[in-house]
Amino acid sequence: MPSLTGKASRLKQQNRSRSRESKKSREIHIRIVPRGSATVELDLLAVYQGADKKPILPSGDAYRLLFQRAETATVFSAKESATQFYRGAGVGAAQSLLLLGMGLPAELSQEKMRRSGAFTWAKLSAEKVKSVTLHFDSWFDIQGLRSDFSLIDGFGAWLEGFLLASYHFTQYKSDAVAVDQMTLDIVGFPAGSQKELLAAVQRAYAVFDAVSVARDWSNEPSNIGTPEYFALESKKWAKRVGLKCTVLSEAQARREKMGLFLGVGQGAEREGKIVILEHDARLKRRGAGPDTKKTVVFVGKGVTFDSGGISIKPSTRMEEMKHDMSGASTVMGAVLLAASLQSKNRVVAIMAFTENMPSGNAIQPGNVLVSRSGKTVEIINTDAEGRLVLADVLDYAHRYKPDAIIDAATLTGAVGVALGKHCSAIFGNDENLVSCIQQAAGEVGERLWQLPLFDEYFDDMKSETADMKNSCNDSYGGAIRGAIFLKQFIRKGTAWAHLDIATLAANVSHVPYFPRRGATGAFVRTLARFATEF
Ligand code: BES
Ligand code: ZN
Ligand code: ZN
Repeated sequence: MPSLTGKASRLKQQNRSRSRESKKSREIHIRIVPRGSATVELDLLAVYQGADKKPILPSGDAYRLLFQRAETATVFSAKESATQFYRGAGVGAAQSLLLLGMGLPAELSQEKMRRSGAFTWAKLSAEKVKSVTLHFDSWFDIQGLRSDFSLIDGFGAWLEGFLLASYHFTQYKSDAVAVDQMTLDIVGFPAGSQKELLAAVQRAYAVFDAVSVARDWSNEPSNIGTPEYFALESKKWAKRVGLKCTVLSEAQARREKMGLFLGVGQGAEREGKIVILEHDARLKRRGAGPDTKKTVVFVGKGVTFDSGGISIKPSTRMEEMKHDMSGASTVMGAVLLAASLQSKNRVVAIMAFTENMPSGNAIQPGNVLVSRSGKTVEIINTDAEGRLVLADVLDYAHRYKPDAIIDAATLTGAVGVALGKHCSAIFGNDENLVSCIQQAAGEVGERLWQLPLFDEYFDDMKSETADMKNSCNDSYGGAIRGAIFLKQFIRKGTAWAHLDIATLAANVSHVPYFPRRGATGAFVRTLARFATEF
């Protein structure tokens, strides 16, 4: 009997390097079993709507009986995301029943399945259910599904949403429960496709593991989640999953002439670190050389705390600036996921960790810094630090002879003014690259909207004193200005894209498989998908 157990939380626990032990872990066991052999608390049935928008009775006598007993049609519309829970109404041995509304079959999509998984988790955990029989046939034994809709991928997406929704950051909660277990028994699965199903289950766990690492990193308070902490964690992960890891100290960054990166960290007590993780199939499998195709370099903004520096931020919600390293946590998740999905491409993640703090030693507005590329920058606002940190590592990234460089950063508040919270911005110098990334995003249910990078936008960034300035004194097109600044550090002929993820990195309450508060892990899946498909 095939059986799989989520091991994300266990890995997470082993990975703690501080003295305080992780309090809570969730384990979700999945089994494929013959019908009738499952002894569980709850039956889970998917229910579609007919053209009249009324629930379609599931086929099979047992279902029909149960459906009538629950007087479903009067209270349950079966529209998508609706759930209906009944105690004492399960099929056979189960005590309870959960009906999951799917809406119209023709409108079912992978993303709807992912969201449906998240709604299921929310309901089951609210009802404290520990064991479930999932009636697979109720989902897929239905007329009218789109012909390009894959059942296996659909189930994978459902499980992904279910697992992603189960994430909680309880590291510092004294009352968190030790272990939380759930069993999911799958019945009514088409014979002959079990291997594919298991592969889909494994993929969903790989996604969950990688996104959980990204979320954990971003949620880590900045007194623990220091540049040094992330460097040590990176080394541990590299060892565990077989990645190459290089850490540059500030002294090494100085030798690399990274004047902008070092300038940002100048006011901080804690030392900045640049961490490079590399997945290369050639390093793992002998003879895999010819398969290895392209080099994708991810670059992440890793400002472990952004106080604004001398141009200090207002204190309201300043605590959220512990998430200002979410670009780095995103690319960390992406390289881990690309590695576990055995990407044939070489995938490099460069994460630039530093703190932006005010002090007697901090950079001041009006200072001029010299970048690794040799271009000089006048600092107008020390709070526009992300572009400084990234500029030097983007320049450094060219040494890998990349086919594409993609950076991710919580770069500007202005991106939220431009686009709100329902998508992030993508910029680039290569339309093909931008559309490949947008396509990867669409495939995993994430959204990136392209904003322009006309050369004229740089006119406003010219400085009297230096080659450019890091910000302007008005608030027109702030997200674009951040991006056009970065573009100055991309060499001719190198394809590059920039993701400004400031509004989706944390505290997103409208995506059911994102936690309502704290880090989301957004775009880990997009970047990993891109890296494996490019
Ligand atoms: N880390 C912030 C951007 C940010 C804001 C991220 C809100 C997440 C939520 C960035 O370093 C910053 O402070 N940007 C300034 C730039 C300005 C001074 C040109 C901004 O957006 O106000
Ligand atoms: Zn800032
Ligand atoms: Zn910042």
